[in-house]
Amino acid sequence: MALLPILEFPDPRLRKIAKPVDQVTDEIRQLTDNMLETMYDAPGIGLAATQVDVHLRVVVIDVSDEGDEPLVLINPEWEAIDDDMEDYKEGCLSVPEFFDDVERHSHIIYRALDRDGNAIEEKAEGLLAICIQHELDHLNGKLFVDYLSRLKRDRIRKKLEKKHRLEQQGR
Ligand code: NI
Repeated sequence: MALLPILEFPDPRLRKIAKPVDQVTDEIRQLTDNMLETMYDAPGIGLAATQVDVHLRVVVIDVSDEGDEPLVLINPEWEAIDDDMEDYKEGCLSVPEFFDDVERHSHIIYRALDRDGNAIEEKAEGLLAICIQHELDHLNGKLFVDYLSRLKRDRIRKKLEKKHRLEQQGR
């Protein structure tokens, strides 16, 4: 397995639309294993392939306390079950050290292929439901900062651009 570099906002590659996976091959399984290792190492509770500059519809998630319940979602889709909404202070490995409230659906149903290519369909609520909506946004080139005011988003962008400049100077 290998750790993959994570793209950070405002990198334009985070805006690409991911393509569906044709077939769940060993190569795709290798990608999901590397994404899980990268996510646990960060540490984070979700990672979309877009964030590691692979523009395929692949997401990994683990919202368990122990970090021992990996969820691999290939070609995932979700829909809301009802109109219930909730706010949660979200963060993102591509927007390090910033957190803010985003309103999401509380109860969803999701469909995907798992790591073995089997079709799954499950209901989700709470943190898992929020995480699925957040990660699937990534596959469509969308970030949680897009839900914030332009003022907040610009402030985050400027701070991260400064961080990236300093990192480059340090090389
Ligand atoms: Ni994210």
